[in-house]
Amino acid sequence: MVQAEWGRIQAPVSCVCIVAAQAYALPRVSARGAVYTPPRSGPGRNNAFGVLSAALFGEPTLYGPAKFGLAWNLQQRTWVHWDGNTRSPLVRNLAASLGLGAPLIGQRGVLEFAAVERHTRLSEQIRPPRYPWKNDAALAERGRQHFEAQCASCHVDTQAAGDARLYALDDVKTDSNRARLFDDHQAELYNRFFAALEVPGYEPPREPPVRSTGKYVAPDLAGVWARSPYLHNGSVRTMMELLTPAAERAKAFHRGTRAYDESDMGYADGGPYRFDTTTPGNSAAGHEYGTTDLTVQQKRELIEYLKTQ
Ligand code: HEC
Repeated sequence: MVQAEWGRIQAPVSCVCIVAAQAYALPRVSARGAVYTPPRSGPGRNNAFGVLSAALFGEPTLYGPAKFGLAWNLQQRTWVHWDGNTRSPLVRNLAASLGLGAPLIGQRGVLEFAAVERHTRLSEQIRPPRYPWKNDAALAERGRQHFEAQCASCHVDTQAAGDARLYALDDVKTDSNRARLFDDHQAELYNRFFAALEVPGYEPPREPPVRSTGKYVAPDLAGVWARSPYLHNGSVRTMMELLTPAAERAKAFHRGTRAYDESDMGYADGGPYRFDTTTPGNSAAGHEYGTTDLTVQQKRELIEYLKTQ
């Protein structure tokens, strides 16, 4: 089934992700001197807010591992992250720098603010990668109709920057840890932190940069072929599986290979990290849209269409 290798085009991105994931898996001495050893989240994921909260406030949270956020078309969104909790991309990047080891002395962050600004501007120019293998246009055209009937109401919205794409846990029914961990208390801690933070060149935002929503955003599906395994916690290996009722999805699989399964649209089951969907934060439940209304042939057509996004 595995027909392709995630090759040249993606290699630099995947390397960065793997290095970052490994960095997150190490015990971290926080900006405030506390030590926190997060569980291993595997390649391409981390428990970013758990790590940050431990590093900045000495308060580890519920374990809510999440895939790295969308790296492209960032300029289209006002609120970022899977629960739409952060308004300012600059604040997000400052938090990442401090969480990953930039020293904090009292309220003073020791980092080069101009570099964080430059990185933020550059990141807004990244565009989605094109599907690099063969695509059947006639099949994709039929798939477009299924997409419009089953998926577009949530995933395509002219108000992408607003909150129209946030869905309650009761609707989407995917693993709740990531949405629940960022509660009002966490939001308050971060907002106080960014109001008091001193970094030469940085001005605290006029409106609170962070909030708790308790929901998940229906992400833009541009470049979705490259985002496997799917859902915020990366618990569903292929698109065909996401279109399969949750009870029939794999209970465990491996992550970390670049081999790609074109037919089902997702990374092959291989690599050093065993993903166990029965452990906390890792459930492959929910998002059963299109699983029972479409035939297997229609699912293949839909997948062919998604490859064009
Ligand atoms: C009622 C709204 C809704 C409908 C309908 C819907 N989705 Fe989603 N979708 C969401 C939400 C919310 C998420 C984020 C859930 C999470 O990650 O826990 C999501 C996540 C996804 C993801 C994961 C993206 C990633 O980067 O991992 C894919 C792929 C996806 N949806 C495809 C589809 C397809 C295909 C359809 C149609 C068959 C569909 N969705 C129908 C709301 C919806």
